[in-house]
Amino acid sequence: MSDHIQEIISKMTLEEKAALCTGATSWTTTPVERLGVPEMIVSDGPHGVRRVTDVHAMTQESLPATCFPTASCTASTWDVDLLHEMGEALAEECIALNVDVLLGPGANMKRSPLGGRNFEYFSEDPYLAGEMAASLINGIQSRGVGTSLKHYAANNQEYQRFSISAEVDERTLREIYLPAFEKAVKQAQPWTVMCSYNKVNGTFASEHYHLLTEILKNEWGFEGLVVSDWGAVRGRIAALKGGLDLEMPGPQEKRVKAVVDAVRTGKLDEAILNESVRRILNIVFKAKATPKKGTFNKDKHHELAHKIASEGMILLKNNGLLPLKGQQHIAVIGRSAEEAHFQGGGSSHINPTRVAVPFKELKAQSGDAELSYAEGYPADNSSRQELIDKAVTISRNADVAVLYIALPTFKESEGYDRTDLDLTEQQVALIRAVSKVQPNTVVVLNNGAPVVMSSWIDDVAAVLEGWMMGQGGGMAIADVLFGKVNPSGKLAETFPIKLADTPAYLNWPGDTGEVHYGERLFIGYRYYDTKKMPVLFPFGYGLSYTTFVYSNAKVSKKTFRDVDGVTISVDITNTGKVAGKEIVQVYVHDQKSTLVRPEKELKGFAKVELKPGEIRTISIPLDFRAFSFYHPGYKQWVTEDGEFDILIAASAADIRQTVTLTLESTLKLPCILDKESTIREWMDDPRGKAVLGPIIAQIEAQARKVFSGGDERYGNDNAVGMDIMIMFSDMPIISVLMFFPGALPKHPDEMVDEMLKQAHSLDK
Ligand code: BGC
Repeated sequence: MSDHIQEIISKMTLEEKAALCTGATSWTTTPVERLGVPEMIVSDGPHGVRRVTDVHAMTQESLPATCFPTASCTASTWDVDLLHEMGEALAEECIALNVDVLLGPGANMKRSPLGGRNFEYFSEDPYLAGEMAASLINGIQSRGVGTSLKHYAANNQEYQRFSISAEVDERTLREIYLPAFEKAVKQAQPWTVMCSYNKVNGTFASEHYHLLTEILKNEWGFEGLVVSDWGAVRGRIAALKGGLDLEMPGPQEKRVKAVVDAVRTGKLDEAILNESVRRILNIVFKAKATPKKGTFNKDKHHELAHKIASEGMILLKNNGLLPLKGQQHIAVIGRSAEEAHFQGGGSSHINPTRVAVPFKELKAQSGDAELSYAEGYPADNSSRQELIDKAVTISRNADVAVLYIALPTFKESEGYDRTDLDLTEQQVALIRAVSKVQPNTVVVLNNGAPVVMSSWIDDVAAVLEGWMMGQGGGMAIADVLFGKVNPSGKLAETFPIKLADTPAYLNWPGDTGEVHYGERLFIGYRYYDTKKMPVLFPFGYGLSYTTFVYSNAKVSKKTFRDVDGVTISVDITNTGKVAGKEIVQVYVHDQKSTLVRPEKELKGFAKVELKPGEIRTISIPLDFRAFSFYHPGYKQWVTEDGEFDILIAASAADIRQTVTLTLESTLKLPCILDKESTIREWMDDPRGKAVLGPIIAQIEAQARKVFSGGDERYGNDNAVGMDIMIMFSDMPIISVLMFFPGALPKHPDEMVDEMLKQAHSLDK
């Protein structure tokens, strides 16, 4: 602890300490003027600065700021450098708008495409989400502005988000729901982490000692402060004890008093309060080291928002119609061509500095082509046949129809989940009617999460996923449609064929206050892959106007030690006629494992830009974590000796090169055998094997004898018509031995106790 902070703490009264741990207003912390502790200003987040006009007043009106694309779009760029650049721009705006900490990014997993807030989250894959979050945080913090990594943890739905208990087993938490946070904390040290509203396994995230203190602070080494989501604290004392430092929003006089009383009556150790005070002061002074002043370059940031949008858009289907070229009459259909749908509803809602209108931008790039416009669908959920009729009329005689279809806010927003994956009925009817008269129909989607398309996808020529594309997205659409930008975005989440196919379908959204994560590790492509199910568009998928060939995959070592890791390299060639970018993905498949594992998991990726004919070798390192899984028995990440396939792929469903490697585990795992351990578990553990191995043949002989009833005719077989040893292998030894009363020198209990003693002694 710095001397300065120590000195301040020593001079603070109990009341001042308690007050510091609670906000003064919705967006400011409590200053301690007599000791020179200033207030700190926080603001949403995550893809723009929603700085309210007066942070001390109850207003939602916010200052103009650049609205960058939301996380669904930024993750689809798979471009860590671009995210860093976006972070730097966000920080510049924070500095100009007087914001110390930006509340974002969100690193929760997209457990189900129904999650209302999925547009604010990066991916269904923790590795990709972690890389994106870490880069954005590093970008923002490189300019001396803080971040708030949110919402920790298991906040994957809006339904009952303030109260529901996410029931998740430890392995699933460690492998799916925590690693993006872990990566971001370890690689970027966000200044703050925001706990979520929900409970995790029965305890509010705001009071969760295991999550906040044991894992986040102690295990991952998080140095910043934990802030509550707005209104997430129930028990103030329990929250402090759990590891939550700062409660927001304020003021909360009663809570402050409760903390003071708790210390005075011995219910709360003052050392716990001091630790939270220390963490808060540390960040407050860090924040104040960056003077807040000046302006930001609106044009430059608008241009950056445009660039990110054009990198994040995904060409999902193209029968060759795109890029558009020489069309003389373009029918522009859909109200989102005029009223851009570029962000989501809720706390992330930005007051943009300007908005690129898709229709205008299309016009600007379409040369002397004639453009006609029809609204196509209303703003609400009503059916309006006359709007469809008009769209059909202008589409029939055009060379191409471009349909701008935006998923309305009443179907997707923070605060409520989606109830289906459908567009509105009118939108579907519109696409079907237009594509019937116009084979050259392009659908441009603006949405934050997957929609189903089976009723119309076969009838349209092209589909461009435009996401919630930020204020510059209108230009990006035109760029891609006319080929000024060669699309390179790839999906950071699977598009399912139908809702009933989705992994959490049977466990969503929970009831009686609980939601069971019954699909466990198997979300997103981990589920579809392992179940070998067809999907509409797989994870990692996206088309380009050029083609890429993968060749010459190599590894630095065929046999390697887990702690050393290994590096994969592959040559990528642009075999088409235009320059383009390819996102190369590396998945790891474990051939054999003691615990069930997903079919394959993303463990590395790279984005490479190539001119026509150009070839480049890319290298991707794979470390210990790329091969390990979290073992709930050992309570740690483990590797196992054996063969792994490294799949170098253009998407989760498009494996281009495979290399097989042999891993040598260097782990010395403790002996965790106990009375309930099965014969298989004994034989899988080196110490267990040393003890059980020498007598296993005797146990087998005894078993055969008992089950053949002593009848020699059965030979190796037995009288009950089953292979006893296969059955026994999954029984605890104690249960097996109980089958042979009298035939053993000692009682089975004693025998097993002795065997356990021997096995554990071999540990040392
Ligand atoms: C949201 C947070 C947000 C906070 C402050 C909460 O309701 O969940 O993401 O940062 O409000 O607006």
